[in-house]
Amino acid sequence: MAERVIPLVDARAVRPLPAAGARASGPTPADRLGRPLRDLRISVTDRCNFRCSYCMPKEVFDKRYAFLPHAALLSFEEVTRLARLFLQLGVRKLRLTGGEPLLRKDVERLVGMLAALRTVDGKPPDITLTTNGSLLARKARALKDAGLQRVTVSLDALDDAVFRRMNDVDFPVADVLQGIDAARAAGLGPIKVNMVVKRGTNDHEIVPLAEHFRGTGIVLRFIEFMDVGATNGWRMDEVLPSATVIERLQQVHPLAPLEAAAPGETAERWRYLDGGGEIGVISSVTRPFCRDCNRARLSTEGRLYLCLFASSGYDLRELLRGGADDARIADAIAAIWQQRDDRYSEQRQAMAADTGRGARRVEMHYIGG
Ligand code: GTP
Ligand code: 5AD
Ligand code: SF4
Ligand code: SF4
Repeated sequence: MAERVIPLVDARAVRPLPAAGARASGPTPADRLGRPLRDLRISVTDRCNFRCSYCMPKEVFDKRYAFLPHAALLSFEEVTRLARLFLQLGVRKLRLTGGEPLLRKDVERLVGMLAALRTVDGKPPDITLTTNGSLLARKARALKDAGLQRVTVSLDALDDAVFRRMNDVDFPVADVLQGIDAARAAGLGPIKVNMVVKRGTNDHEIVPLAEHFRGTGIVLRFIEFMDVGATNGWRMDEVLPSATVIERLQQVHPLAPLEAAAPGETAERWRYLDGGGEIGVISSVTRPFCRDCNRARLSTEGRLYLCLFASSGYDLRELLRGGADDARIADAIAAIWQQRDDRYSEQRQAMAADTGRGARRVEMHYIGG
């Protein structure tokens, strides 16, 4: 077998900002595929204390890896200013991600600043956070008090040995379960739990995890292993199609499909027929959902990415630190959004199964899930 080559240079390339054009105030018009801008995912750190092989494999993200220096990161004030402008442009949901967002010092202060913002309709934005749960037991209460509404916790196995192997830093599953309990006690719900399914690695954990969360009100979602970034050695034969996940669960507990809660959602929802609650599947490989994708991503250093699979982003930090006024920045964001035609997952599906390998795409820990 050929040795796996992992490119050490990543693709944090910058795209030129569009020229400033006159724009009426209010929400930005839809992109070139008719999709509105509704969801902003904000990466607050590119660091993580886990080394999940599908995201930050140890052999790449080791002592030699150059994480961003502190001065490169957007400050909380800068993030909040951008978030305010995005909300004026039509965003309704803000999600803090990373890396591991709870590693960012005083992240609850940022939550508090974001919670004071309003959408164009004058409503509070939906504010949520994706975490690996390792610091949640310590932080849940402060996050709630600061105005966080809910959390999504990543959890790939219930079995301690499998979990330790997947996070690759020997982190015990009990601590994450405790974090989930603390989030629940703090009222950070509805809580979602995301499991990335890799065939042959943790697919035997599908039923145990489902059993664990059934009847708790926590929504477990199964995610198809994606070819994000350029370092995770993605192979189609490690993807377990969501249809198979559903089949396996159906054998134990009958399920029926539910309507999507909102347009452009990542997950297809199902409910247990016996009233055990809801689960979801996120099928970006076998059933791409680009058609309604209303998500923009802000990287840790202030670059705007229009797709999880983009190879370059637009440098909004340069505008912020170059003294641009709000109108100039909002115009730039609107112009960028209107040019958008990204639909990577749909295109990948149309390509041969493994042509995605080795591409110079941006890493997920940098722009966030
Ligand atoms: P809520 O349902 O509102 O809680 O959020 P969500 O499903 O949009 O967010 P979450 O961050 O929990 O996303 C779940 C997973 O779906 C991520 O970890 C990614 O694996 C995947 N995902 C999220 N957004 C996208 C996207 O735009 N494209 C693709 N291909 N996958 C995505
Ligand atoms: N495939 C699918 N989901 C991924 N995530 C990270 N890398 C991948 C990948 N290759 C998701 C996981 C993780 C969140 C931060 O991003 O759900 O919990
Ligand atoms: Fe960290 Fe989440 Fe990536 Fe795992 S998937 S390395 S927990 S950012
Ligand atoms: Fe959106 Fe890109 Fe994901 Fe498609 S692949 S759903 S366009 S982020």
